[in-house]
Amino acid sequence: MSFNQKTFKYLAYHNPVNSISLVSVESPVRENAAELLYNHICSSLSDLDMEMIRSVPQGGNWQDIPEKVVEKSARLTQIRNSGGRTTYYGRLSNNLPSYTVNTYFNRPGNGTFVHPHQDRLISMREAARLQSFPDHYRFLGSYSSRYKQIGNAVPPFLARAVADQIQTGLVLDMFSGAGGLSEGFIQAGNDIVLATDSNSHMCETYRYNHPKTKVVLADVDNPFQSKELLEEIERTLKGRTLTTIVGGPPCQGFSTAGRRIPSDSRNTLVLKMLDFVNSLAPENVLIENVPGMKWIKRGKAIGAVVERLEAGGYTTTVLDLKAEEYCVPQRRRRVFVVANRNNEPLFVPKGALAPIVRGKTRKDSRPGTKDLPPPVNVSEAVSDLPSLSSGEGEDRIEYIPDWTKTDYQRLMRGNLELGDFITKRAEQG
Ligand SMILES: C[S@@+](CC[C@H](N)C(=O)[O-])C[C@H]1O[C@@H](n2cnc3c(N)ncnc32)[C@H](O)[C@@H]1O
Repeated sequence: MSFNQKTFKYLAYHNPVNSISLVSVESPVRENAAELLYNHICSSLSDLDMEMIRSVPQGGNWQDIPEKVVEKSARLTQIRNSGGRTTYYGRLSNNLPSYTVNTYFNRPGNGTFVHPHQDRLISMREAARLQSFPDHYRFLGSYSSRYKQIGNAVPPFLARAVADQIQTGLVLDMFSGAGGLSEGFIQAGNDIVLATDSNSHMCETYRYNHPKTKVVLADVDNPFQSKELLEEIERTLKGRTLTTIVGGPPCQGFSTAGRRIPSDSRNTLVLKMLDFVNSLAPENVLIENVPGMKWIKRGKAIGAVVERLEAGGYTTTVLDLKAEEYCVPQRRRRVFVVANRNNEPLFVPKGALAPIVRGKTRKDSRPGTKDLPPPVNVSEAVSDLPSLSSGEGEDRIEYIPDWTKTDYQRLMRGNLELGDFITKRAEQG
């Protein structure tokens, strides 16, 4: 079936302030994506941005841009004067995992998002590959939303590594976004009974990729909608026990990518999630966030979360994980607060691949000396994808099987299982 965005209709899209909406998509039906490639589109660069990134070599950044070009850009002049981050205006290295894919990979000045050898930004599909989303996973909604959907997601392989340590069963995903966390839990054998988010574009992507899950558009900051949402969850469970509540509340307040603002109301959304934990009493709870969550209010914010969980009879473990150790071709650190009722601390998921360690500078970063195979690098992740010119690409094209060059690409195409990928990589050393 050819995809026409106009055929997309919601049965109940209008979301009055005090009521939730079930997101019901009439069409399109999820396609068999075995020979398709979605979302291989990159954002355009201005003439000045193009001039700047042309002088940045693989692994380089704004410091490689000649002075006479720097002076033409107010932003770059400001970065240079304030000694901005060495990831800005960065170009990816083929032989290392990428830097963190955030929600701004449509702009060169907010991270390391320039393709290793083409003069353009990475495409949405390349970013999704660096996040370990399988190729059948399709991102819908406005382009600006899709950058957020991909950049905000928990890499499915990282979520899966944590999910593997938790008993499987029925899961509720709060702040579900595009569904990275859910995808990892599904890959680990769970059933997501309901997913909820306040953003309709996020729900649209979630619904397309997880047609069996009930998707509810609701704002948990709104007491009326929260009450309705709780009733809807109870109706959906039909008396069955909820095994796990998972959620990655917005991290702007916690993130080091923006300014951390202790009073940011988004920080308290995590407490709203705990109200649902109180009411639904699942066996396990998982809260995902950026490492900054541990430092906010000098650790008091995360302390309050742990305290509330423990007062409710849970045993908690805080995990600080590096995504590249779990087969994600990206340096991304995330914190997981995991709580369970069975009184046993959680095992830290064992990384299958070596972490990246930093030398004196970022440019000296290399795979750690642990006795483990190297992490997946950018070339392994995306070298099969068609070349693009800046600002070009297609939302849906045919994927020619001959393009596949690496095991990671086989994994993304659905032609290799993660367990077999890890075994093969260990044999190759
Ligand atoms: C960090 S993202 C979650 C990413 C998701 N866990 C994943 O792996 O793809 C946070 C999500 O919280 C949603 N959100 C923000 N405020 C909300 C609110 N008041 N109620 C419900 N969802 C909200 C945002 O729309 C966003 O999708």
